Amino acid sequence: MSSPCKQLKQTMQKKKILIINGPNLNLLGSRETSVYGNISFEEYYNKLIKDFKEVDIDYFQSNHEGDIIDKLHFANNKYNGVVLNAAAYTHTSIAIADAIAAISVPVVEVHISNIFSREKFRHKSMIAANCIGSISGFKLNSYKLGILALIIDN
Ligand code: DQA
Repeated sequence: MSSPCKQLKQTMQKKKILIINGPNLNLLGSRETSVYGNISFEEYYNKLIKDFKEVDIDYFQSNHEGDIIDKLHFANNKYNGVVLNAAAYTHTSIAIADAIAAISVPVVEVHISNIFSREKFRHKSMIAANCIGSISGFKLNSYKLGILALIIDN
C-alpha cells in the first residue's frame, strides 16, 4: 500500500483526458451495427477506464453542436487533451473547427469507421486541420489510439 503522499503525487501527475462524442453516438451498440459495432459506448468507456488506470478519462456526448462547442471551451486549461468524435458535424461544422482553433488544449479527431472508405461527403473533415492528428477506421479502438496519441504527445 502506498503512502498518502505518494498517492497525492500520483493524483497530481495523472493526465486528464476528455472524450467528446457528437450526434447519434449515444446510439452506439444499436445504430448501424455493421458499421459501428454492437457495443454501447458506456460499455467501451468502462473498459477504457480499466485499461488506462494512469489517466483520468471523462466522457461527454451531445447531439447538439453548441453543447459540443461549450464543452470544448470548458476543456481548455482543465484537460491535458481531448479525444473528439464530432460524428456528422466533422463534415459540416466550421463552428466546431473554430472552437478547436480557439483553445490551447490538444484535440485528436477520431472516427470509428474509416471515413475515407465511405461516401464522398465523409471524406472531407472541417475539423482535421485544427486537430493535432486524426485516427479513423479502427472501430472503437480509435478512441484508445486517440488517448495513446495524447499521452505520447504531452
Ligand atoms: C463517424 C463517421 C461520421 O461520418 C458519421 O457521421 C458518424 C460517425 C465515425 O465514428 O465513424 O456519425 O464519426
